[in-house]
Amino acid sequence: MSLLIKNGRIITATEDFTGDIFIEGETVSAMGKDLPGRMAIPDDTGIIDASGLLVIPGGIDPHVHLDMPFMGTFSSDTHETGTRAALFGGTTTVIDFVLQTQGHSLKEALTQWQGRANGTAVGDYGFHMAVTDFNERTRPEIKEMIEKEGISSFKTFMAYKGALMIDDRQMTGLMQEVRKQGGLVTVHATNGDMIDYLVAKHRTEGHRAPLYHYLSQPEVTEAEASARFADMANYTGCPGYIVHLTCEGALNAVREATRRNQQIFVETCIQYLLLDASLYEQDFEGAKWVMSPPLREKKDQATLWAGINQGLVNVVATDHCPFKWEQKLMGKDDFSKIPNGHPAIENRLELLYSEGVHKGRISLNKFVEVACTNPAKIFGMFPRKGTIAPGSDADIVLFDPNRKHALSASTHHMNVDYSAYEGWELTGKVQTVLLRGKVAIEKNRCLVEKGYGNFIRRGRSGGMI
Ligand code: URP
Ligand code: ZN
Ligand code: ZN
Repeated sequence: MSLLIKNGRIITATEDFTGDIFIEGETVSAMGKDLPGRMAIPDDTGIIDASGLLVIPGGIDPHVHLDMPFMGTFSSDTHETGTRAALFGGTTTVIDFVLQTQGHSLKEALTQWQGRANGTAVGDYGFHMAVTDFNERTRPEIKEMIEKEGISSFKTFMAYKGALMIDDRQMTGLMQEVRKQGGLVTVHATNGDMIDYLVAKHRTEGHRAPLYHYLSQPEVTEAEASARFADMANYTGCPGYIVHLTCEGALNAVREATRRNQQIFVETCIQYLLLDASLYEQDFEGAKWVMSPPLREKKDQATLWAGINQGLVNVVATDHCPFKWEQKLMGKDDFSKIPNGHPAIENRLELLYSEGVHKGRISLNKFVEVACTNPAKIFGMFPRKGTIAPGSDADIVLFDPNRKHALSASTHHMNVDYSAYEGWELTGKVQTVLLRGKVAIEKNRCLVEKGYGNFIRRGRSGGMI
């Protein structure tokens, strides 16, 4: 089956022109101006008219938590519902986190996640491996993950003490091994000991509201850990990536590392660009935005937008980790028991376009770079994913830049009963989505089935971008 997308404004990280895309099977076979005038197009080719629309690569969200056991419950989107919602929002590939259980192997955890994801995902997906217990039994598994399993990024937590956190001894050992095997270490960079102390102090003093979640993770906890991580990565020579960076202090630590010609990759998430800590000032309602790190200040949003344009912030992800309201209520009387995370997998591209491109904060090319291309490059999927070019998977979004709409839990497809952006009025909407050459979303309907999503084996990652 072949398809011709005609007369669209094609945007990649580096190009912007009006033209056509010819797709054969699952991949793009040609792209350029006036393709029918320059090459033979088979008569039975399906035609999609993209006049007036932007044509961009399928989005890649490299930070999502689907069906993840966490804080005594499971994140409420499964691999089926989460990847389907992602497709509705123009994200064709996600990278989900496998969590090693302390005392157990990486392989055991991977087997569990494969059991939940294989045959159920609707969109394409990969896995990061979260190493929560690095020891001499785990060490040989790093090579195995990269070479046999196609998992080349290893997530670490410097926080969640007593659950997921590793210490600096383990971090150093892991970095040395990952560097040797050609992988990348990613990090939740906040100081777990400081946070643990502040949480205990606030609880002892009788402060139990969501606001105290925010007050237990001040900016310094993130700035300190980001600098420490950058130093350890510099010492070991291991490529490093900071997930969900939120604030000026942490970005300054990264800026400082560039002075010694070190590249630390930085991801922020859409919520840190758009929402701020004033949301915690309402009683329990603030639980909707209880996540770690917490939302920050308006000055941090300005730093993050600038960081994108300065090339310091390389990726805009979501850290999609949804919990239904009834799950959030687990922390009704104690902020430390509110499951951490918020839903956004479906909203990222439209929010970033509307608040970023439409409002003149970033260019169209930058939009594609941080939402599609850089995640593919950093995580070993480029050029198969993350761009539109001959040979690439035909993961393509037709985007109406003028269409106005509002976000709401009553219309979204995520398996969660509230929207973190309820009533937000946006300009720009995903219209049609192709995944590997197949029309996946059209006229607000999903046309691909549970199980259509492929596991994407990733190559070695972490080279300079
Ligand atoms: O609050 C968050 N971020 N929940 C998911 C786990 C994590 O730290 O990424
Ligand atoms: Zn995290
Ligand atoms: Zn996360």
